[in-house]
Amino acid sequence: MRIFVTGASGWIGSAVVTELIDAGHQVVGLARSDASAAALTAAGVQAVRGTLDDLDVLREAAGASDAVIHLAFKHDIGFTGDYQGAAEADRRAVDTFGDTLAGTDHPFVVASGLAGFKPGHLATERDMPTIDGSPLSIRMATEQAVLALASRGVRSSVVRVSPTCHGEGDHGFMAALVAIARAKGVSAHIGDGANRWPAVHRLDAARLFRLAVEKAPAGSVLHGVAEEGIPIRDIAEVIGHHLDVPVTTVTPETASEHFAWLGPFLDLDVSASNTLTRELLDWRPTHPGLLEDLNRGHYFHAPSSVTPAETTSDQFPVRVFGGPTALFEYGGLRFLTDPTFDAPGDYPAPGGSVLTKTAPSAGSPAELGLVDVVLLSHEHADHLDRSGRALLADVPLTLTTPDGGKRLGDKARGLADWESVELDRPGGGTVTVTGVPAVHGPGPREEVEAFSGQVVGFVLTGDGLPTVYVSGDNASLDAVRETADRFGPVDTAVLFAGAPRFEGLFDGAPLVLDSATAAEATRILGARRVVPVHYDSWAHITEGRDALQAAFTAAGLADRLDWGHLG
Ligand SMILES: NC(=O)c1ccc[n+]([C@@H]2O[C@H](COP(=O)([O-])OP(=O)(O)OC[C@H]3O[C@@H](n4cnc5c(N)ncnc54)[C@H](OP(=O)(O)O)[C@@H]3O)[C@@H](O)[C@H]2O)c1
Repeated sequence: MRIFVTGASGWIGSAVVTELIDAGHQVVGLARSDASAAALTAAGVQAVRGTLDDLDVLREAAGASDAVIHLAFKHDIGFTGDYQGAAEADRRAVDTFGDTLAGTDHPFVVASGLAGFKPGHLATERDMPTIDGSPLSIRMATEQAVLALASRGVRSSVVRVSPTCHGEGDHGFMAALVAIARAKGVSAHIGDGANRWPAVHRLDAARLFRLAVEKAPAGSVLHGVAEEGIPIRDIAEVIGHHLDVPVTTVTPETASEHFAWLGPFLDLDVSASNTLTRELLDWRPTHPGLLEDLNRGHYFHAPSSVTPAETTSDQFPVRVFGGPTALFEYGGLRFLTDPTFDAPGDYPAPGGSVLTKTAPSAGSPAELGLVDVVLLSHEHADHLDRSGRALLADVPLTLTTPDGGKRLGDKARGLADWESVELDRPGGGTVTVTGVPAVHGPGPREEVEAFSGQVVGFVLTGDGLPTVYVSGDNASLDAVRETADRFGPVDTAVLFAGAPRFEGLFDGAPLVLDSATAAEATRILGARRVVPVHYDSWAHITEGRDALQAAFTAAGLADRLDWGHLG
């Protein structure tokens, strides 16, 4: 069969693709980036460029295929506060596929999950989850829409995948749990940890998707479950043992603080049987169970970040002072980003509001030594405070926004998008600094700038020098993409993250990259090293170092993180 697969580059999708190709099928995969397209091509898949929102692309690719397997899901927004948005995009894609496939009798297999069943009840394939209007249950309603397509001439089926689909290379829930335990120095569960999660090995799940597309009758519910329910406490104990950290408990109230985005999932009690699935498709899970897989040790190899980050930071160290402020030497010139050294306290912000600094800087202007250039992304009080402003008088050049260039006097120069300035290096040659787009909030730039004002990012290049990107306060992955198209791959990205939010401004959406989009930006930029800044020291920052570590681990990018030298 010619099978169109969405999410073919993902954790499960990449195994499904191999399974399908090995069984003699031809696979066409949706790719939303050059990197994913390249990965698909390397795996023998014909890549179709597009996103889940490109419904015409989905329609056309499905119409030209004998079957569709739908695995893509916007986890990047789904796990960082907009599960509803992710589930609604999923529903639109499913409806598009349904309309396209109606009357063809073609197979349509959709990944679903196992939330929404009564705690303590062993869910079977015949059980239907409760739909209560919550964001999680939007996905359950989508599952029912898929099953209903059976009556419209579609051989539709859903595979309810266990919440942990584990295996070597996992960057999902288990990897995040290990990362959190490593970062916190304790392996925790919530309450008594008796709540359970079913589990399935990724390669067993991949086989189930193949069997489903080949022979599941229309309207089948299949359980991607190899083990019915493993107590979270048992998982925490194995993790604690391997990391040699104590096993502890956190209360449901503090779960989100301890586990960040994983908290609500870790509190679920789910158990599910696979009897009907096994009988229907003669599916036999053969790969290791979850605890055995954890005990094989691959989840616990020291993060590869240690070695490469040390190597790269020795080559080109970055000093971080808290907030957006960092200092580095590049091409013999010393660059300081957004100078802020004022004491903790309240500072005025645009619109009469107040920004609260919660921690002191890890240094003072007096300790900086000579600074050649300030890279000033914009002038909000958390990016240019009183001491930072005073310091500009002693710095020969401040590069900033076009408006800021006019405001800040003779030593300041504004850079429009893609405008460059050449700076002489002490030993001869030049460093080029180019202004790149930054959008300080969600939505179109003109609308965001009306509230937030201009912001600029920077790219530094020079003969024989690595490419460096300093994002400034930017929330837009499109802006990152534009920069990556011109300058990627970059060596070092000084990424402003932290997901700052204000109630009542843009519906509380992040005004700067959150942890997951920072990881996505890393992928887009092809960045070898990421030095995160702007994730601490201010009350409006909502995601700190742990969330970044967890998101990069979940994205399989933990080895790119370099936390810099403090002060
Ligand atoms: N893994 C689990 O434990 C688990 C458990 C229960 C259910 N599931 C479900 O199983 C399915 C596959 O999960 P997974 O673990 O393989 O997820 P994953 O590793 O996060 O992969 C997600 C896939 O979706 C693609 N994608 C994301 N946003 C997209 C967009 N806007 N447009 C087009 N493609 C987009 C990604 O493309 P890129 O490669 O370009 O990022 C990737 O190929 C999902 O529906 C998931 O919710 C998974």
